[in-house]
Amino acid sequence: MSVIVTGGAGYIGAHVVRLLLERGEDVVVVDDLSTGRDDRIGEATLVELDLAGAGAQDALERVMKEREARAVIHIAARKQVGESVARPAWYYQQNVGGMATVLAAMEGVGVDRFIFSSSAAVYGMPDVELVTEDTTPQPINPYGETKLVGEWMAADAARASGLRSASLRYFNVAGAGWPDLGDPAVLNLVPMVLDRLATGRRPAIFGDDYPTPDGTCVRDYIHVLDLAHAHLAALDYLEQDRREHAVFNVGTGTGASVREVLDEIGRASGLDVTPDVEARRPGDPPRLVASSERIEQVLGWKAEHGLNDIIASAWEAWQAGPRRI
Ligand code: UFG
Repeated sequence: MSVIVTGGAGYIGAHVVRLLLERGEDVVVVDDLSTGRDDRIGEATLVELDLAGAGAQDALERVMKEREARAVIHIAARKQVGESVARPAWYYQQNVGGMATVLAAMEGVGVDRFIFSSSAAVYGMPDVELVTEDTTPQPINPYGETKLVGEWMAADAARASGLRSASLRYFNVAGAGWPDLGDPAVLNLVPMVLDRLATGRRPAIFGDDYPTPDGTCVRDYIHVLDLAHAHLAALDYLEQDRREHAVFNVGTGTGASVREVLDEIGRASGLDVTPDVEARRPGDPPRLVASSERIEQVLGWKAEHGLNDIIASAWEAWQAGPRRI
């Protein structure tokens, strides 16, 4: 029986796929290859499919039947906050529409285990030291909204049809589990800093007057390999007979500031990382750090890698890529 991984050719998905293959699972990747790459999925089968496109449900049902799917890990989504503000309807079409297609296909075929890639973006600007899963979600952009709606859809399906599901709220994902699986997009702090260094510019700090210890924003950085392991832990949890929708933060419980991340990149690379301090970016919460208590207790999962491993692996992967510094 197979496991379907949507978005399996992307940065996070490819890590999940590689771990599943390592433990001998039959893996089918469903990906439109809009940002993913087929050279990242090893011996998994690729089904090239836009989940928000015409005929996607039928195509997915066919694959699920043919490959006797037992679970779906739904990672495929658009994930750029700024783009979601500019094109909200399209974000709903892609993320909510794609999710509806996946759930409808699962219901059609009777596949009943589901893991959903949610995001800390559902919390918006929480004014708490550690965010728990019971902190009221209040997304502040369409991207975060589509992730929250996705969680509601999974919860509704659990109530209606007995779907066993888990939503994983990812915090700030970075690093590389293998040097060939680095983050190819230049959208987040670590790749943005490396990109600037690679092009002879200084790294940027977006605001250093936040109410935090060093004035820069604090985030909970999670190693992408730890995050991938969390998916396997969630899958094993759902193999037991749990007809419910569970929500888990995937973070470490420890925050790091932008300055601390920069310093770590300087240490790993030996490069001068003296930053330019630029204007605040709208919508950045000063602090967003997970309580990881629930996932540790319920799934028995705990992050094994700290910031130094995250940065060292990101640096190694960057050096292995086409733009070594
Ligand atoms: N930052 C800089 N300089 C840069 C890039 C980022 O100072 O060159 C700062 C940002 O202002 C922010 C912090 O680094 O304070 C982290 O920024 P990222 O863009 O890496 O990550 P975010 O916390 O903004 O966003 C991440 C995911 C989103 C998700 C969000 C959930 O990328 O998809 O977490 O909170 F919505």
